[in-house]
Amino acid sequence: MDNDLQRLQETALGEIQQASSKIALENIRVKFLGKAGAISRLSENMRNLPKEDRPRIGKLLNEIRNTVTAALDNRLDAIESEGTAQILSDVDETLPGTQFPVGGIHPLTLLQDRAVRILRRLGFALADGPDIETEWHCFDALNTPANHPARNDTDTFYLPDGRLLRTHTSSVQVRTMVAQKPPVRVIGPGAAYRRDEIDATHLNQFNQLEGLYVNSDVSVADLKGTLEYFVRELLGHQVQTRLRPHFFPFTEPSFELDIRSPGIQSGKWMELLGCGMVNPAVFEAINAKRGDNAYDPEAWTGFAFGMGLERLAMSLFGLPDIRLLIENDQRFLAQFAR
Ligand code: PHE
Repeated sequence: MDNDLQRLQETALGEIQQASSKIALENIRVKFLGKAGAISRLSENMRNLPKEDRPRIGKLLNEIRNTVTAALDNRLDAIESEGTAQILSDVDETLPGTQFPVGGIHPLTLLQDRAVRILRRLGFALADGPDIETEWHCFDALNTPANHPARNDTDTFYLPDGRLLRTHTSSVQVRTMVAQKPPVRVIGPGAAYRRDEIDATHLNQFNQLEGLYVNSDVSVADLKGTLEYFVRELLGHQVQTRLRPHFFPFTEPSFELDIRSPGIQSGKWMELLGCGMVNPAVFEAINAKRGDNAYDPEAWTGFAFGMGLERLAMSLFGLPDIRLLIENDQRFLAQFAR
């Protein structure tokens, strides 16, 4: 009996050593250790043995079971790592890798980021406000009379409760002044909404970048110097600028800033932004809301400006249709991804 057991163990170990696949190993496991396997059968035979032999043979069977199990585990490990080594040796690491498509930054975001970075360098802090505004923040505080065409519901999206989708981000400037005393120097990039028919040059939601600077003795010269610097940093040193008189209810005097550059719109003058000196009537409205005289028009002056980013992106990137900016066409967007 003892010799039989010894031979059984040797046979099992020999076969395990020869096995070259996981399947072969599994078959060996079943053959020797499975329910109907050789070792299990011998264990069942124990009751036919003389009583005094049982403990010794039992112990021996256990040892064999353990040895065979350990050998199976070792061989399995070896086969697995041989497999990995084989796979690795088949890899040619000099081949080019698989290209995965990566996202890029949207051209409007690129433009906005660049503009914001320049203005931050000039000391402008970022400000924010809600897209859904009250009439007061969007119009009344900005000296816009009740009969102004912009307030018409054919031009502006009104909510049933009388609030509206802000038609410009000047409301962010109003919120800033209500919340803090001068001096202030903020920019409020964000979405604005107007009830335009969508076509090649109009969307009913677009992006603005507006700025406000209030301090003692701010003059048109500050406005001009700041905006000229901003435009040159944004578009290059070859850009020429001019201020053209204009009208906004919230600034006095008001201007449009035009730019001209060889690379943009074939070097023709184009309107870039609206700007002007904050109308004292705006300061008065803010004071009334605050209940103090923090924005005393005798003590403080300021300039404000606002530009639409889509139109600038169109000129800068030579886009024939503004809708390209919102259609999510990969073929268009991929040209801006870096
Ligand atoms: N709010 C104006 C617009 O939306 C832009 C502007 C801002 C003009 C500040 C002057 C001063 O067109």
